[in-house]
Amino acid sequence: MAKQKTKILVIDDDPKVSWILSEGLPSHFEFISARDGIEGIQMVSTEQPDLILLDIKMQGMSGLEVLEKLNKMESRPDVIMLSGHGDTRYVVDSVKLGAAEFINKPFDVKEVEIHINGVLERGRLRSELAKAKEELRSQKKYANFIGDSEPMLRVKALIEQVADSELTVLIRGESGTGKEIVARSLHELSGRRNQPFMKVNCAAIPRDLLEAELFGYEKGAFTGAHKNKQGRFEVANKGTIFLDEIGDMPMELQSKLLQVLEQQEFVRVGGVQTISVDVRIICATNRNLEEAIGEGQFRDDLFYRLNEITIFLPPLRERAEDVPLLVNHFLEKYNALYSREYANLSSETIDRLMGFHWPGNIRQLENMIKQVVVRADEGIIEELIRSAAQQPVKSTSGGAAGAAPGAAPLPETYDGDLSLKSVVGRRIAEEEKRLISHVLNKTNWNRRKAADILQISYRSLLYKIKDYELNATK
Ligand SMILES: Nc1ncnc2c1ncn2[C@@H]1O[C@H](COP(=O)(O)OP(=O)(O)OP(=O)(O)O)[C@@H](O)[C@H]1O
Ligand SMILES: [Mg+2]
Repeated sequence: MAKQKTKILVIDDDPKVSWILSEGLPSHFEFISARDGIEGIQMVSTEQPDLILLDIKMQGMSGLEVLEKLNKMESRPDVIMLSGHGDTRYVVDSVKLGAAEFINKPFDVKEVEIHINGVLERGRLRSELAKAKEELRSQKKYANFIGDSEPMLRVKALIEQVADSELTVLIRGESGTGKEIVARSLHELSGRRNQPFMKVNCAAIPRDLLEAELFGYEKGAFTGAHKNKQGRFEVANKGTIFLDEIGDMPMELQSKLLQVLEQQEFVRVGGVQTISVDVRIICATNRNLEEAIGEGQFRDDLFYRLNEITIFLPPLRERAEDVPLLVNHFLEKYNALYSREYANLSSETIDRLMGFHWPGNIRQLENMIKQVVVRADEGIIEELIRSAAQQPVKSTSGGAAGAAPGAAPLPETYDGDLSLKSVVGRRIAEEEKRLISHVLNKTNWNRRKAADILQISYRSLLYKIKDYELNATK
């Protein structure tokens, strides 16, 4: 197999240096040269060398100044400094600026080769290590996706098969079954994991703002559009966009979305210029889309386009054998979070949990275990189950306060960050969210009326709805 070329940029005002090296070193090293710092810095971007040899003393910008500039780049190749006699006092400065090695001129080419190989090898090890760490990290995140039951094993196998593809995935399942966790897992296990994951809750963003939110807008497109703004699709470029509650997307927008899916391009609201993006799309819904199509609320062509792969998450009541695993997982999670040591639940309690019908699915179970840990009392489970059983729980996504049984406010536990500002801030935010949600429900989600009652501006109400991820319970 042909050895891959290693490209080395020599930045030195003496052209002999690069010439001597390319004559003296094996041909798998390709030397390119720049005569001064400015040209050198440009070539780092245009040529993307694997390594840089940088002279300390040059006309114009000195080697150290060049190194400082290179450090400002998002990433740069390793740099070996070349020093003439009398430059040794700059060694310390170079090391501080992150130079990998230091070679004295005049040099012996063999010696240079050894240094170059050493630095390249260290770089390779470093990036392998980083890659391994990164893989471990995403595996770890995925490890938090619990479930060994037959249906969950099938779901996991499907996730692993389709994660690293460009297929558009539609995730379906009742509220609280883990649709968001699946969407994040798909992203984490894909080649896009280091790029943005952008979640957009189509139900939480007011209809008239959703288009601008997704596709951005140009200055003057509507009242209040004071400057150009990128939409979520642009921000998510190279990454993944997760369109949550896609079933609630207004019809007009559905056609624009279809067009984006087909062409990977769009125009901003009020704009003329076509913008291209490279975005993987994942959608989720707990609505019955076939029914919505029948009622003329969802486009069938969009449905087929979104539906390249469907991952269906079974409700928790259909996989009771996952309950004990989930219980342990959440016990560990909340013990760690609240610095508690609440031990395992009794087998009677576990049985009770396995037999429950879980209208709010895993979110509801998680909430219960959280309260058990905080109050250090598994006795409350009976009480929670009984009160939950009396109320139908449907679509509590976003966890709007008061919507889910078992979501009663927790007593504040003064653990962790004890700054007055942050503890009080948290309480205020909770209270604010609860009140806004209450008023919205009272006004049937009439946002103008709600803003009036709350005595805040319409716009700031919209922001708060977004921040708190509130949405109308269907
Ligand atoms: N398999 C799982 N393992 C561990 N935690 C899970 C699992 N499934 C769900 N959860 C947890 O349950 C909660 C609800 O999950 P998620 O938000 O993904 O549900 P959802 O299907 O998006 O619900 P909704 O339709 O209401 O938005 C989250 O805190 C999530 O971390
Ligand atoms: Mg969700």
